[in-house]
Amino acid sequence: MSMKLPEELPQLFKRHIFACATQRPPMHPRGSCGSNSAQPLWERMGKKIEESGLSAEVGFTIAGCMGFCSAGPLMVIYPEGVWYRPQNEDDIDRIFESHVRKDQLAQDLVVVLSR
Ligand code: FES
Repeated sequence: MSMKLPEELPQLFKRHIFACATQRPPMHPRGSCGSNSAQPLWERMGKKIEESGLSAEVGFTIAGCMGFCSAGPLMVIYPEGVWYRPQNEDDIDRIFESHVRKDQLAQDLVVVLSR
C-alpha cells in the first residue's frame, strides 16, 4: 500500500549544506573535490557554523561524490538547491555571510550544473 507524500513535514534544519569530500588520486580521469583542495574549505565552513551558534538550524554534512567531480570542490545548500564552487577560504566566508546569515545568494560563486 502506498501513501501520497505529505505536502510538508516539520523540518529539522532551516538549511542543510552538503559538501563533497571524495578524494581520488590526483591524476584520476574523473577528478574529485578532494583533489581540488576541498578539505580545508569544509573545515572552515564547519567551524563558522559552529562558532556562530547556528549549528541547531544549519545542518552541515560531509558527503560523498555528488556526480559533478571535475567542477569541484562542490557544495549544495538546501532547501534552495543552490550549488556553490568555492575556491578559497574567503569564498567560504562569503557564502556563509551571504547565503547562510543574510538569505542572499553569493552569486558569483554559484555554479549551475547540468546533466
Ligand atoms: S568528487 Fe565531488 S562531486 Fe564527485
